[in-house]
Amino acid sequence: MTYDFYPIKTNDDTISLYNFGVGDVYHSKVGAYTEALHKYVIPSGLIEFVKENNTVRILDVCYGLGYNSRTAVNEILKINPEIKIHVTALEIDPVVLAFSAIVGCECFEKQINDLFFDAINEHVNVQEIINSYIEKTSQILPQIRKLIPKEYDLIPQEEINAKLHNIYYRSISTRISIDFFISDARVSLKNINESFDFVFFDPFTPAKVPNLWTVEIFKLLYNLLDENGNLTTYSNSSPVRAGIIEAGFYIGQTTPVGKKSTGTIAYKKPELVKNQLSEKESGILKTTAGIPYRDENFSSSIEEILERREIEKQKSGRMSSSRFLKNF
Ligand SMILES: C[S@@+](CC[C@H](N)C(=O)[O-])C[C@H]1O[C@@H](n2cnc3c(N)ncnc32)[C@H](O)[C@@H]1O
Repeated sequence: MTYDFYPIKTNDDTISLYNFGVGDVYHSKVGAYTEALHKYVIPSGLIEFVKENNTVRILDVCYGLGYNSRTAVNEILKINPEIKIHVTALEIDPVVLAFSAIVGCECFEKQINDLFFDAINEHVNVQEIINSYIEKTSQILPQIRKLIPKEYDLIPQEEINAKLHNIYYRSISTRISIDFFISDARVSLKNINESFDFVFFDPFTPAKVPNLWTVEIFKLLYNLLDENGNLTTYSNSSPVRAGIIEAGFYIGQTTPVGKKSTGTIAYKKPELVKNQLSEKESGILKTTAGIPYRDENFSSSIEEILERREIEKQKSGRMSSSRFLKNF
């Protein structure tokens, strides 16, 4: 087990994590819940979908603290409490999962936090992992403080402990099923044989961890998506968008939240795209910036993926993105 993250508070007062191994936050400063609602749930069209359907199937890639799935379930139940919901969640880190079980959020109905807690506790021993997390991190707390960007507030260890003791159980609803795959998404995705209406795609920043943002992963996701479904992600990075397109999708942009950048939504049918990319955004995809990340055997290291992309950029004969932007 690794304990290389620490809880922080984001601007909407919801809890996120800072990962010191990757040097990345799990959510943008605008807020963990705000991001889930505005980058995933609302742009996906899920709220309209559940008005007209009796079943909804969600694939949450990189579950983390589970804001995307929990926000989705919370919104769905406000609209159609009778609907059947099936969530499949992929997460590599059992410690993060244990943490997500105790990070409730007042934005969700208590019943929803409990439901996810129970589902997680079937896979990992939440109490044991959190106890050992607190023991390990308290020894290195002063170093952790130095690593975390100043704009984030750290959550005191006593608060983490208190959350654990406040938990109590409720019965699991029979209409909501939550499956967890606790391993590398590159492996889990190959073992899933279902179809989904919505894919929430939320790995760490592509430039730092490109191994999940590859053409090959997007092809797997394409095959798992229903013909009328969609994939949403916070990223607007050009290699990512190019990879999604190469996998067969048609893409549009989602509205910025907090900061100025747009996100991406991908469909199998071109007529489903509502907000097309701007001329500038699609132009960039034809430059060297639009060379995607590749990982044909699903086993390359980050360095190998980045190096392979650099070589492909050099050989491509394409214009650089800076030159394109200068002329635009
Ligand atoms: C940006 S965070 C996700 C935030 C999350 N969606 C939420 O609502 O809290 C990225 C997550 O991806 C997980 N992760 C990293 N590499 C992974 C891999 N190869 N397979 C599955 N999960 C991975 C990390 O442990 C982390 O929890």
